[in-house]
Amino acid sequence: MSEEGDRLEPADWEDFGDEMHALLEQCIGRMKAARDLPWQPLPAGLGDSLKLEPSETGSGTAATFRHLTEDIMPYATGNTHPAFFGWVHGTGLPVSVGAELVAATMNSNCGGRDHGAMKVEQAVLDWLLKLAGFGSDASAILTSGTSQATILALSAARTRLFGKEIRKTGIQSLPEIAVYLCKGTHSCIAKALEVMGHGTDALTFVETNEALQMDMAALKAAVERDRANGRVPLAVIGTAGAVDTGVFDPIDDLAAFCNEAGIWLHVDAAFGFWTRLADQPWRDLCRGIEKANSIACDFHKWMSVPYDCGACMIYDRELHLQTFSSRPSYLEHQEAGLGGGGTWYCDLGLELSRGFRALKVWTAVKAIGMDAFGNAISDNCRQAGLMAELVEKSDVLQLAHPVTSNVCCFYPEKGDPNEIAARLQLQGSAVFSTTKQKGRSCLRAAIVNHRTTSMDIIRSIEAVEAQVRLEATNTQV
Ligand SMILES: Cc1ncc(COP(=O)(O)O)c(C=O)c1O
Repeated sequence: MSEEGDRLEPADWEDFGDEMHALLEQCIGRMKAARDLPWQPLPAGLGDSLKLEPSETGSGTAATFRHLTEDIMPYATGNTHPAFFGWVHGTGLPVSVGAELVAATMNSNCGGRDHGAMKVEQAVLDWLLKLAGFGSDASAILTSGTSQATILALSAARTRLFGKEIRKTGIQSLPEIAVYLCKGTHSCIAKALEVMGHGTDALTFVETNEALQMDMAALKAAVERDRANGRVPLAVIGTAGAVDTGVFDPIDDLAAFCNEAGIWLHVDAAFGFWTRLADQPWRDLCRGIEKANSIACDFHKWMSVPYDCGACMIYDRELHLQTFSSRPSYLEHQEAGLGGGGTWYCDLGLELSRGFRALKVWTAVKAIGMDAFGNAISDNCRQAGLMAELVEKSDVLQLAHPVTSNVCCFYPEKGDPNEIAARLQLQGSAVFSTTKQKGRSCLRAAIVNHRTTSMDIIRSIEAVEAQVRLEATNTQV
């Protein structure tokens, strides 16, 4: 029978230690075998076998850990496999698994207060702001991802435009606002405006140029048109790495325009931010990003840090605080003790309770070093180029757009891209996702995978070609 104070503790620490070691062995085994473990379909009845009863009596650690390794771990997303190119899913890092273990052991709440985890987050954010080229007045916060970071960034933009009073008065009395973006901009911008209460009517879509970037003349004309109609520009969204094409908007030009027009420039750099670590020519793709007013990026994409972790950077710390800071009496700052310390991250975002996301980032950067990350990111860009070459040489595939960075989209000559993607996934040969380019469905690879080799690219394209040829044969019969 458990007693007061240790009812939830392991019944026997020695047994628990053995069970934890065994679990760790299983996890290490899975990570070592990642190259042979693609996504696999779920067995029928898995959901049922995981159901929890209101009257659970507790099965003990050993039996429960067995569930973890036998019934749950095998059915992962598959983004740890080298032929996974779907959506924009990072691959994960073995070294950060160690960090996750330590973070869970510490169980720190990073909303605020004076403890070591806060210093780790500060160190990560200082490093990130330097990488972005932001000045000493800037601030940042780790988020669950770019979607959340976007809400924070556009809220800060709104504070700059309408003042912090808006936190009290709300949006009822505001004029109609406008946010400028291209057709292919990620849906997180629209979602942010929805939850901020402006709705998607606030979006002004700007034409793209031949290189699929935001067209500067079209942007200027759109702003003039909106202003003449009484709409107030809130922000221009520049994308550093478009989700569908990997194209980078001309951030430098956007910054010059926004600066002159007095409009906030937000850069969605969810994955493209990390080209700053790559070789040329990719390193220069987000030239000018340091002049943005805010940047959103993700560690869980091209930096391979395990899910989830993104970041929001704001050029003006004061504005950032004005947008979110709130200290009711139960959160009063102490001069000394645990209730003291420097920045409390609850003052820079929406969440009060926050996990120790920073540790897996800090550990990855410290253990692996920037050169290796830069090389892996450059490898991915070269691999996207190789994929495009193979597609261009293929007699059954057609490239949808030139490759700028790490995204390659192509049309199969025969068959439905969605069905082809599904068959490849079910075979375990490769994971592509799909999208539409110029209104036509295509297969899409977004390569943010540090395990991928050129051979994986060659084999994956061969697998696609085999499927398309099969389709051609079937339609002839
Ligand atoms: C360009 C871009 N922006 C935003 C997002 C959303 O990021 P998250 O999934 O971290 O919220 C993505 C996700 O793929 C993306 O590619």
